Amino acid sequence: MLWYGGDYNPEQWPREVWAEDVELMQRAGVTVVTVGVFSWAKLEPADGDFRFEWLDDVIDGLHAAGIGVDLATATASPPPWLTAAHPEVLAVDASGHRWSIGSRAHHNPTSPIFRRHADRLVSKIAERYAHHPALLAWHVGNEFGNEVPRDYGDESADAFRTWLRSRYGTIDQLNDAWGTAFWSQQYGSFDEIHPARVTPTFPNPSQALDYERFGSDMLLAAYRAEVAILRRANSAIPITTNFMGPFKPADYWAWAEEVDFVSDDCYPDPLDPEGHVYAALRRDLMRSLAGGKPWVLMEQATSAVNWRPVNGAKRPGQMRALSHQAIARGADGIMYFQWRQAARGAEKFHSAMLPAVGTDSRIWREVVQLGEELAALSDLAGAPVEQAPVAIVFDWESWWACEQGAMPARTDYLATITEWYTGLYELGVLVDFARPDDDLSRYRVVVAAATTVLSDAAAEALDRYVQQGGHLVATYLTGLVDPTARLLPGGPLGPLAATLGIRIEEIAPRAEGDALRERLGLSTDVRGEISGRVGVWAEVLHTIGATVVARYGPGDLAGHPAVTRRGHGQGLGWYVSAELDRPGREALLRIVLERADVAPASTPPAVELVRRGGLVFAINHGTAPVRLALAGHDVLSGLDVEHLELEPHGTAVVQPSPESSGAQA
Ligand code: GAL
Repeated sequence: MLWYGGDYNPEQWPREVWAEDVELMQRAGVTVVTVGVFSWAKLEPADGDFRFEWLDDVIDGLHAAGIGVDLATATASPPPWLTAAHPEVLAVDASGHRWSIGSRAHHNPTSPIFRRHADRLVSKIAERYAHHPALLAWHVGNEFGNEVPRDYGDESADAFRTWLRSRYGTIDQLNDAWGTAFWSQQYGSFDEIHPARVTPTFPNPSQALDYERFGSDMLLAAYRAEVAILRRANSAIPITTNFMGPFKPADYWAWAEEVDFVSDDCYPDPLDPEGHVYAALRRDLMRSLAGGKPWVLMEQATSAVNWRPVNGAKRPGQMRALSHQAIARGADGIMYFQWRQAARGAEKFHSAMLPAVGTDSRIWREVVQLGEELAALSDLAGAPVEQAPVAIVFDWESWWACEQGAMPARTDYLATITEWYTGLYELGVLVDFARPDDDLSRYRVVVAAATTVLSDAAAEALDRYVQQGGHLVATYLTGLVDPTARLLPGGPLGPLAATLGIRIEEIAPRAEGDALRERLGLSTDVRGEISGRVGVWAEVLHTIGATVVARYGPGDLAGHPAVTRRGHGQGLGWYVSAELDRPGREALLRIVLERADVAPASTPPAVELVRRGGLVFAINHGTAPVRLALAGHDVLSGLDVEHLELEPHGTAVVQPSPESSGAQA
């Protein structure tokens, strides 16, 4: 079975509505709903006063209709009585200000008092429902860290000191790792250390990096506390918590090891012409976090959200296309926020499966249609996606490190990763994400863009990868520091410089904007096997065995190497020291792929073809119709086709005929 459904918040509605909900869910082909995410105040209206009868009725009603339940632990937002009695449960921001109630998720999830109450609630829920026949999965909390990514209060200060003690053992080792000899920061004991609160000027970068690690660990500790209770109650029920794509505050590589299945909330902007690329990146990240196993799209919107400055509606077919994209890229379920559009509260303008205007609506018809289509695709459940030939390194530590202040230039890590991903997406190449020290040998090409923190293990893994025949593309901002945020000895790239056959003498960022660069006499382009304009990042580099692929054009760096390549062992190591523009990046990717024997697709950039379980998903995310030479049986329409005609946002799922060689535009 593929999951199909959404967050169901019946506590917002009178009981009369619940029967209609279930009946309409059946009409829409709903198989699973997530219940109880924000129900704490209704389940425990006063300290220790538990009221489960209403939830019993909801779950029993769903079960009677054959609908499964993904049951939340209801700890996503504490009720007002708890924070009134214990204000210290409220989270504190970096300037020491305590958040107020009146919205949601304003708490510190590792506060001992919060944990005591939350764990008691989870125990009661587990005790009551762990063996309910409707229960398919546990949904722990909700989007850990979304509202309050970090807490900086006194309780967190204590927890940080404990975390540091176990990481460093002695204060001398911490002083050494943090370089506290600079700026008179030397600590006499762990008790003197504060969280990474607001400081008058740049904070200690090693401390700031450790606070990110600690913060991610703290969020994970809160998740783990609930998992332990649920496991004791019934170890057969799978446990998840909803991720938020590439979410900076939580290192999901660590989290992925602790969930029984990965699930994700994904809200591409319908008004972003590259919203489908944004979504594809997130699908591929989830599949990679899941180690290739199926994952669930836990939340998406049927149409508009309500939290952007302008909340565009999805166009006809757009929700369907994005849903099939998720299935193609490994999802075993499509869920929404939320089942019934709210009439009150902060999310009443957010679209839902059942719109406020009712069933005579495009949204409802599309919801019903997708329910039917997913039922027809149910055999796909559990099937793997085709092997991706390329991996992009995704590293939370590098993200945290490269976006700190006091760096050579401001950087946006996710934008950098997205640029490389987009280049590959447009060439029709499926991408996995990987950790820098993973075994990368199954990939023909690996892109390590802005992998700022380079551990010895990662440098060795990347070198081995090239030696054994891999094609590594490393970019500027890679290997600037070790895991303590100390400069790598010998200059940028550390030991990887030898792999790539280069030496970086100096990092030399350009002024922002071509006009200013020209006025200053700075090089603004690269020329050679590839050419293109360049952005802010640039370096003075020397080749030591590498071949120059492109050199800087006229200006201060005229003739200096900008992009290099070196044969190393059986593979090739490419280095991109310049911030290439989109055409330059595409040109480079084409030659890298060609050398690595990876064939780009010949479909238009907005059309994707992904293979899963013997089926080809062909999706046109563009605004013009396309015709594809793909013959076979269209599983969705039930028709045999000689070729495909896809309208804007048109989708086909084809069992290709044996003679069909793949799609050509
Ligand atoms: C998510 C959240 C949901 C809902 C949704 C709206 O972040 O988990 O509860 O608020 O956004 O888009």
